[in-house]
Amino acid sequence: MSKPKPLRKAVLPVAGLGTRFLPATKAMPKEMLPVVDRPLIQYAIDEAREAGIEEFCLITGRGKDSLIDYFDIAYELEDTLRERNKIDCLKALEPSSIEAGSLIAVRQQEPLGLGHAIWCARSFIGDDPFAILLPDDIVQAASGKGCLKQLADAYNETGGSVVAVTEVPREQTNRYGILDTGKDDGRLVEVKGLVEKPKPEDAPSNLSIIGRYVLTPEVMPYLSKLEKGAGGEVQLTDAMAKTIGQVPFHGLRYEGTRYDCGNKLGFLEAQVAFALERPDLADGVKEFLKKYTDKI
Ligand code: UTP
Repeated sequence: MSKPKPLRKAVLPVAGLGTRFLPATKAMPKEMLPVVDRPLIQYAIDEAREAGIEEFCLITGRGKDSLIDYFDIAYELEDTLRERNKIDCLKALEPSSIEAGSLIAVRQQEPLGLGHAIWCARSFIGDDPFAILLPDDIVQAASGKGCLKQLADAYNETGGSVVAVTEVPREQTNRYGILDTGKDDGRLVEVKGLVEKPKPEDAPSNLSIIGRYVLTPEVMPYLSKLEKGAGGEVQLTDAMAKTIGQVPFHGLRYEGTRYDCGNKLGFLEAQVAFALERPDLADGVKEFLKKYTDKI
């Protein structure tokens, strides 16, 4: 196998309506909701940087401009902090700065589905492999490596598309993209087919795709057909399924814990899990949890 093209690009779709978080998301993007003190989008950008991503494309929609502002220089704020010698605060802003020209935004004028959102990035993607990170999924790394870095390594190993997968309860298959599996070594699993949101009785397995992907550009011609799938939306899963056989396609059982911050319970769990990792908060949170669990 010749060396695969280096993975340098990531698409971050943030154009969804975030209906599960109304009214909070009426006037602010879901991806700006903080877990502890960082917005969801920051976790996705950090994970992508760790995986070697250098070029970012946000797929935005109306009312999402604060996401662009977040990565801009906050001139007045920074100047005031400097004047007041608030070095810690200036340091806290550092992760939100991004090299000039390395982030672009494309508007998805209508939220017609994840597949449509990715199709909107076609000029950015060109003929290159690309990562997709759905910022409402955050993955707490178990070992040294973040989830996307693990996918990037698997892409270099296989030379094809790789999606992060996890087992879900059978009764929940109708919420996710589900794999029809082939050879499985316990870490990498060959993908023979993909189905979006199958009923539990029709699901070929209970291995579901989470919001991390590395795809080869072969998926783009299928996306450009803009065929509607489950829920009347243009589904990324359907286009990916058509590339099976044309490019190697694998699922990766990543190491780490995924929190689905697109739903309220997952979001609350993430707050606790990430706060417990923070030396300045862990003791206080543990004390609070003990007090609270005594009460229930
Ligand atoms: P979700 O299924 O979580 O949809 O999309 P949503 O609109 O964000 O949230 P709910 O279900 O209404 O509460 C998964 C990801 O795909 C993006 C979303 O922004 C999210 O990151 N997305 C979805 C788009 O960018 N465009 C779309 O048309 C649909």
